[in-house]
Amino acid sequence: MTTIRAGVIGYPVKHSKSPLIHRHWLETYRIDGDYTAIEIAPDRLAEKIHALAAEGFAGFNVTVPHKQAVMALCDHVDDTARAIGAVNTVKIENGVLSGTNTDAYGFIENIKRAAPSFSYVNGPAVVLGAGGAARAVIYGLLQEGVPDIRLTNRTQARAEELREMAPGRIAVVPWEEKEDALAGAALLVNTTALGMTGQPPLDIGLEKLPRDALVTDIVYAPLTTDLLAAAAARGNPVVTGIGMLLHQARAGFELWFGVLPDVTEALERKVLA
Ligand code: ATR
Repeated sequence: MTTIRAGVIGYPVKHSKSPLIHRHWLETYRIDGDYTAIEIAPDRLAEKIHALAAEGFAGFNVTVPHKQAVMALCDHVDDTARAIGAVNTVKIENGVLSGTNTDAYGFIENIKRAAPSFSYVNGPAVVLGAGGAARAVIYGLLQEGVPDIRLTNRTQARAEELREMAPGRIAVVPWEEKEDALAGAALLVNTTALGMTGQPPLDIGLEKLPRDALVTDIVYAPLTTDLLAAAAARGNPVVTGIGMLLHQARAGFELWFGVLPDVTEALERKVLA
């Protein structure tokens, strides 16, 4: 048996938690594999990716800023990645690169585990933000049958663009009116960077949000963001963002190493340490 090799490509890539996560699973499941962080400058992307294929890599994760560029370099891109407009996971087989995106799976799976009784069909979802993460979250919500999405973003043009994913089910709300959009909502998701350590706070009053609405944040540093703390204080159920990162990683691990790994508290503690 030869060692199965995978990794994460990015620029920079040092901050990535992926090596920690995948190495934890390699150890847990006693798999002869390796997972490394590989820094690739944007102007060397095509050349370096093909070198990984030539070296026999089983595949790789993709992080900032390569998620869109890699999509154009894959031989196959599945419907999920195409709809989200970005590739975060690549499998290499006989030199053929197949791209997918596991962020929507990670987002939905996190809520499934942390709030198993939550039902997407119960009411509208409010999504804050219209960047790459929002695209994946919205794709997941649409797949799960959310009746309608109220999308709001500082730069409204980006939200209008995202609305094209499902014009009949997504309504764009001006950023200044986001609090009004909370009335009657069943779910509130922050996909912006606001509230993250080192970023400005997310300034939103929750008065209009029903108290049984689920609130989740894709920010996980800090784990309990001000948004989640405020929601929990008024009795709303909350789900933290770390699970999205861990669950999106599971799908790639299975593609390369052949085992669908578990997300455990021990792993969560390790990644948050
Ligand atoms: P990601 O891929 O993580 O979603 P991104 O594409 O850079 O990253 O998107 C970041 C999101 O956070 C965007 O919705 C961005 O709003 P703009 O589209 O207006 O830039 C939002 N965001 C970042 N800083 C913000 C701020 N200070 N106020 C409001 N929104 C902010």
